[in-house]
Amino acid sequence: MAKDPVRVLVTGAAGQIGYALVPMIARGVMLGPDQPVILHMLDIPPAAEALNGVKMELVDAAFPLLKGVIATTDAVEACTGVNVAVMVGGFPRKEGMERKDVMSKNVSIYKSQASALEKHAAANCKVLVVANPANTNALILKEFAPSIPERNITCLTRLDHNRALGQISEKLNVQVSDVKNVIIWGNHSSTQYPDVNHATVNTSSGEKPVKELVGDDAWLTGGFITTVQQRGAAIIKARKLSSALSAASSACDHIRDWVLGTPQGTWVSMGVYSDGSYNVPAGLIYSFPVTCKDGEWKIVQGLSIDEFSRKKLDLTAEELSEEKALAYSCLT
Ligand code: NAD
Ligand code: LMR
Repeated sequence: MAKDPVRVLVTGAAGQIGYALVPMIARGVMLGPDQPVILHMLDIPPAAEALNGVKMELVDAAFPLLKGVIATTDAVEACTGVNVAVMVGGFPRKEGMERKDVMSKNVSIYKSQASALEKHAAANCKVLVVANPANTNALILKEFAPSIPERNITCLTRLDHNRALGQISEKLNVQVSDVKNVIIWGNHSSTQYPDVNHATVNTSSGEKPVKELVGDDAWLTGGFITTVQQRGAAIIKARKLSSALSAASSACDHIRDWVLGTPQGTWVSMGVYSDGSYNVPAGLIYSFPVTCKDGEWKIVQGLSIDEFSRKKLDLTAEELSEEKALAYSCLT
């Protein structure tokens, strides 16, 4: 029997991530090849004509799974009945801008969209915030949508996770699909800590630790970390635009694994509400290693954290606490 369609909201759908993301959703990349979807696309009035153009292209592409498209500049219409909300809309960082420069613009957007989601989304709607500063926007959304369970509000660090997998695969000349269990700790910013201490590679003679195969601690604690931390800025420098296809693909990975589950023995990184695990202050949206089952994420517990890692975990937590304070100062 055919499944009922799932309603997926994409805010900022006329932007460049939106343009890469909506066809992926309509093709079943996010929710599976047998899951019909209805797309709700929100943007602001100056982008209304472009948004309508995206709707026309979705119709023209004749996606078999796509059972309807709403293209609107009305947040209430966009949020009504949605089961999944991917919050991409916002003010992007441009070359030379610090992420904090865009804070005040984005916190007011996330405050008002939190209310629309809280009042009009389907019960148990899963929310993924992509727009930067992603962790703090998600925190603002959580604060202003108190009836949405905090476990349902997350932010995207899967792109950073995938970047780390990509760097290891290039270094070792192995398939990216054979590398697993890297971790992104903390903020989706240049203080994030890409950690390979528990990562492995599937080889013809079994699973081997990444650290052993790389055998170059200086790279793992130096160039590897900075490359992943700075990858977003490097892409902005090269494209004069922030990453879009990789962000869209990683957003699909995030929701797919959250809804359909992570493979046995594999974890992924998600920005989630901290419960104090690994001595990360509670009350921040912080990226942790998680496994997902039956539509729920769970922080992987019991991983050893060495002294080098501890400092990195604390540094990115400090930045998030500062961002939280800054966000609150923008609200008053
Ligand atoms: P973009 O400027 O191309 O698109 C943003 C869209 O949002 C525009 O169409 C704009 O009109 C719309 N918008 C602005 N205010 C809005 C509002 N109040 N409601 C609805 N829509 C609104 O930007 P982009 O390149 O698509 O990037 C989007 C965001 O994602 C940026 O904040 C960027 O920094 C962030 N980003 C995050 C990650 C991540 O891994 N978390 C990766 C890449 C980019
Ligand atoms: C990315 O990681 O590609 C983006 O978040 C870049 C940015 O800072 O906008």
